Amino acid sequence: METTHRVFVGDSRDLAAVGDDTVELVVTSPPYPMIEMWDDLFTELDPAIGDALESGAGRRAFEAMHAQLDRVWDEVERVLVDGGIACINVGDATRSVDGSFRVFSNHARVLEAFESRGFDPLPDVLWRKPTNSAAKFMGSGTLPPNAYVTLEHEYVLLFRNGGESRSFEPGADRRYEAAYFWEERNNWFSDVWTDVKGELQHLEQPDNTERSGQDTDLRDRSAAYPFEIPYRLITMYSAYGDTVLDPFWGTGTTTLAAMCAGRHSIGQELETGFRDVFDERVERVPSLSRSVGQARLERHREFVEQRRAEGKEPSYDAVHYDTSVVTKMERELLFREVVETEPIDDGYRAIHEPLFDEGR
Ligand SMILES: C[S@@+](CC[C@H](N)C(=O)[O-])C[C@H]1O[C@@H](n2cnc3c(N)ncnc32)[C@H](O)[C@@H]1O
Repeated sequence: METTHRVFVGDSRDLAAVGDDTVELVVTSPPYPMIEMWDDLFTELDPAIGDALESGAGRRAFEAMHAQLDRVWDEVERVLVDGGIACINVGDATRSVDGSFRVFSNHARVLEAFESRGFDPLPDVLWRKPTNSAAKFMGSGTLPPNAYVTLEHEYVLLFRNGGESRSFEPGADRRYEAAYFWEERNNWFSDVWTDVKGELQHLEQPDNTERSGQDTDLRDRSAAYPFEIPYRLITMYSAYGDTVLDPFWGTGTTTLAAMCAGRHSIGQELETGFRDVFDERVERVPSLSRSVGQARLERHREFVEQRRAEGKEPSYDAVHYDTSVVTKMERELLFREVVETEPIDDGYRAIHEPLFDEGR
């Protein structure tokens, strides 16, 4: 099996390279309005934003920044199929503008934007992104009442395009083979993810991986999200054969996750330099996709053992793996590993094989 991963350099306020209703899932993280690291970028998109910030008009700057994101959300609505899901990772911002400290609620504003475009909001996820700075608590120290709570969480906002869920032909292999384990369902579909930095993340960035100076600098500037976030979302909300779009591609974490999950992808990014960073990351995809599948299998077997120790025998045998599963829906689950990637005209091609666990 092959998947294609197209990457375009350009402004996602216009996704001309992507046809209407051609994408089944959007997984993305925009630049967050009112976070200083993105001020210059937003000002380039609309110079009035710089003027508003300079004159201390915080609310006006916030709205003008979101007006730029809104144009991308218009495009998302156009390219996403009916019933397709959009997953938007976003954090709120705290900032003093004109001497007054306040929070700018990006998640609430993005939610409004999607709802007004006909998307149905679904229950969202919070994940913790701890700040390690000693100066993280702001305000009046240990004296009441003017100290402020530190923002250490981000949202994954979830929306369905239109009122109806996608449908599949009964017993569709591409859906059943893309199943996730019952215990993964219990963890991934809970509304607070406390373990995002754990589980699969160390496989993407093992401590002994050397990153070049350019790689480190650009990846820090790109504000890349943890691999685990797009990987989970892609596994939760798409089937094999689907296409995942990231209109704020950065260094391509979404594409990396789509490759490992065996889905097609499309990314678009303003900054030209990030493509080189991705070229380095893509080299690791064959080993990464294999370790991710193996890690999920191993964790599942630990779960089965523990369940047996508690006297609960899982009811079904998996078809492709030497293990039991709790529900009938998991029986056909089949991981796919990437055995090769190669550059093509506007991106990459990945060749996949079923992942069989030879070690057993
Ligand atoms: C929060 S980062 C996304 C990081 C990405 N998830 C990753 O893992 O590397 C937002 C990205 O959106 C890009 N960007 C901002 N506005 C854009 C626009 N209008 N069109 C395309 N890309 C844009 C920025 O250059 C930045 O790389």
